[in-house]
Amino acid sequence: MATRRPLVAGNWKMHGNRVETAALVATIRHGVDAFSVADVAVCPPFILIPLVAEKLAGGPVFWGGQNLSTHKSGAYTGEISGSMLKDYGCTYVIVGHSERRTLYGENDSLVAEKYGAAQAAELIPILCVGETLQERESNRTEDVVARQLNAVIRAHGVSSFKHAVIAYEPVWAIGTGKTATPEQAQDVHRFIRGRLAVMDKSVADGVRILYGGSMKATSAGELLAQPDIDGGLVGGASLSADEFLSICRAAK
Ligand code: 13P
Repeated sequence: MATRRPLVAGNWKMHGNRVETAALVATIRHGVDAFSVADVAVCPPFILIPLVAEKLAGGPVFWGGQNLSTHKSGAYTGEISGSMLKDYGCTYVIVGHSERRTLYGENDSLVAEKYGAAQAAELIPILCVGETLQERESNRTEDVVARQLNAVIRAHGVSSFKHAVIAYEPVWAIGTGKTATPEQAQDVHRFIRGRLAVMDKSVADGVRILYGGSMKATSAGELLAQPDIDGGLVGGASLSADEFLSICRAAK
């Protein structure tokens, strides 16, 4: 089995200002210097990316966007392209976050387009998938996750996951304080890897699958100890440097 280097990524969502952000990244950078068992990344709001890029230049912490346009450039008011993110040193970009799917109407095919746009700009997409509470309760978790993955596989092929990260984020666990149990999360992670393995075993073995949804320092250890959980996509807890660094340390 391939060894997968864990990745802990903070999704700051629409939080922060210049003063808070400068302090937060300084502490994270300092804390991450002390160990290197995992890759660590932060995904600030677009407007804070230049500041973060300046503060984190030279490593070891990576940074990325939370969204991108499907277009390369042009008359698309309010949009940000993959190449713009790349220009500011981004390594990653989140695509298909459930907040974008539900609040901004991003469907599977649009998410697949954004995934492709990210890779075309040489960014690593962090593709978010996950079911709502209603879907889980009606036993449709695997169908939903499979459908979300299939849209990307159909458009870009399974081999595209050589240059991508998957984040399993059960919608009912996001921002609710209700974390999936390690068993619940592992079951879905195993399912995701298994689906890819049917098509390409080596891609499945190599792809990092992160868990996201109310991950905290207290729950991270058990979650990250699961065989198919390769890191975390952390929302609320990534806004506290101490909490975020504790999660990073749990990713061994
Ligand atoms: P919380 O960690 O705040 O639940 O958010 C998870 C998430 O949506 C990360 O993308």
